[in-house]
Amino acid sequence: MIIAIANQKGGVGKTTTAVNLAHGLVLRGKKVLLADFDPQGQCATILGLKPESGVFNLLVAELPPREVVRSTDRSNLYVILGDKRTATAQTVLIVQRSPISFTRHKLDPIAASDGYDYILLDTSPSVGELQEQALWASDRVLIPCATDYLATDGVFSIVSTLKKLESESTWPGKVLGVLPTFYDEVTRESKATFNDLSSRFGEWLLPPVHRATVLRECAVEGKTIFELDRHNRAAREYAHLVDIILAAG
Ligand SMILES: Nc1ncnc2c1ncn2[C@@H]1O[C@H](COP(=O)(O)OP(=O)(O)O)[C@@H](O)[C@H]1O
Ligand SMILES: [Mg+2]
Repeated sequence: MIIAIANQKGGVGKTTTAVNLAHGLVLRGKKVLLADFDPQGQCATILGLKPESGVFNLLVAELPPREVVRSTDRSNLYVILGDKRTATAQTVLIVQRSPISFTRHKLDPIAASDGYDYILLDTSPSVGELQEQALWASDRVLIPCATDYLATDGVFSIVSTLKKLESESTWPGKVLGVLPTFYDEVTRESKATFNDLSSRFGEWLLPPVHRATVLRECAVEGKTIFELDRHNRAAREYAHLVDIILAAG
């Protein structure tokens, strides 16, 4: 199953969710590939690795999978990293008028030959060809949404992109859910945004991930929440998200 993590806003917890979900699935016995489609290349940083041109090499240089997929210190967790050349890859895809299915067709053989249970795609906040290809490549889309300010428009814009992909390009996937992040029940904005999300996207709403300083520390230390502090509430919340995804099949 390919899952994209997307929201057309930055700083809402996409990369944090992608990395912790990937490691959480691995800890439950799954083989996972995490691909970083954001030119900022932050999946590398959170995993304690150096950004590299993995996505560019896969999509444009057409290097074979064994040269773009990296193992990590965690067994069964593999990555295709990104860096600023990911932005160049997008330009090339546009110039070449590559079909919307291009990225999916690059990922399918990797999934088949290496036996991944899940491929997670972290995406960039900017709208564009690469984001659309990553969304189209996905069976499910997970939409993190920060609740520390009224931020539902980012969710709307992803949902409308998905509707467009469905109607114009027969995207066969589904929304996995909307994940409220930076949740803090004592602040008024957080509660208001949560209620707003629940009234607009009730059927998709997942249990929230609270604001947690330790998640910021994870990025600094190059560790996942399960490595830095697995008893922390944030670890339990991400583990619960893993359960939900495993139960969804
Ligand atoms: N629930 C949270 N509580 C506190 N800080 C968080 C939380 N989720 C993410 N962060 C921090 O917020 C910043 C932005 O998160 P990130 O995952 O990079 O967002 P995005 O990928 O959407 O831009 C990072 O410094 C990250 O460590
Ligand atoms: Mg990010």
